Amino acid sequence: MEFQNILLSIDADIATLTVNRPSVLNALNRQTLLEMKQALWEIWQDENCRALVITGAGEKAFVAGADISGMAQMGVQEALEFAELGHTVTNMIETMPKAVIAAVNGYALGGGTELAISCDVIIASSRAVFGQPEVKLGIIPGFGGTIRLARLIGRAKAMEWILSGKTYTAQEALQYGLVSKVVEPENLMKEALDLAKTIASRGPVAVKAAKRLVHEGISMPLMQALRLEAVTFANLFATQDQKEGMKAFLEKRNPSFQGK
Ligand code: CAA
Repeated sequence: MEFQNILLSIDADIATLTVNRPSVLNALNRQTLLEMKQALWEIWQDENCRALVITGAGEKAFVAGADISGMAQMGVQEALEFAELGHTVTNMIETMPKAVIAAVNGYALGGGTELAISCDVIIASSRAVFGQPEVKLGIIPGFGGTIRLARLIGRAKAMEWILSGKTYTAQEALQYGLVSKVVEPENLMKEALDLAKTIASRGPVAVKAAKRLVHEGISMPLMQALRLEAVTFANLFATQDQKEGMKAFLEKRNPSFQGK
């Protein structure tokens, strides 16, 4: 598939997906979501690729939301299919068996905040702006915002964000626990890629298992989640990565993980 609205680059074991519609602040229309779905599937299947960074083209925006001009004429059925496509993309990011880092370089509004919070880690430029302004358009967040935001920052703050439609600075998002780090704009991609490289150097089977547990465990009853953790922990002792990781530690060398 030829991409028109995104850029996909792979450098060694790190992929970078850039939403590339700067003239509309990287707004997500159907075509862009379809291209993202295809790109995510390619990264998912690429055994050499161990982490993904998602960002937006240009200086101004990560993603300024779903494309309003594309949504303006939608009816109920089309809107349902659009929301489902947004869910497919964000669910793929959340369930992808590799780390996904959002490098938020500017406006991350509506579908932009929803895209960012489906990623495992968010690093934000000090210029980033977050928010769920959908109520200003007479709609609600449709790409997972009402569900993921409440789980991430708690019900009270999520209610304030979603019901008011207000925007929040990167520093505020950091205080809320939405963002893990705020950096100067010129350092954003380096920070995100450095973190991706660090994660890529760790045991891939362990990274995949840990990501799955954090995402799934958060909505499970405590005892059931802890049981799943114990079983997953134990199963890792049947992997070559566990043998190599511990052998390398004892031999005082860096491990060479095969992802098996
Ligand atoms: N959809 C379509 N086009 C958009 C857009 C969007 N979400 N956001 C910005 N654009 C377009 C603008 O229409 C404008 O196009 P023209 O040059 O052709 O007029 C261009 O991008 C530049 O934007 P502005 O001139 O508005 O830039 P600004 O600096 O004055 O304002 C902004 C920036 C505050 C982000 C403003 O563009 C804005 O409020 N955008 C809409 C944000 C929004 O409401 N997002 C939520 C969308 S709904 C959603 O996401 C639903 C969901 O959950 C699935």
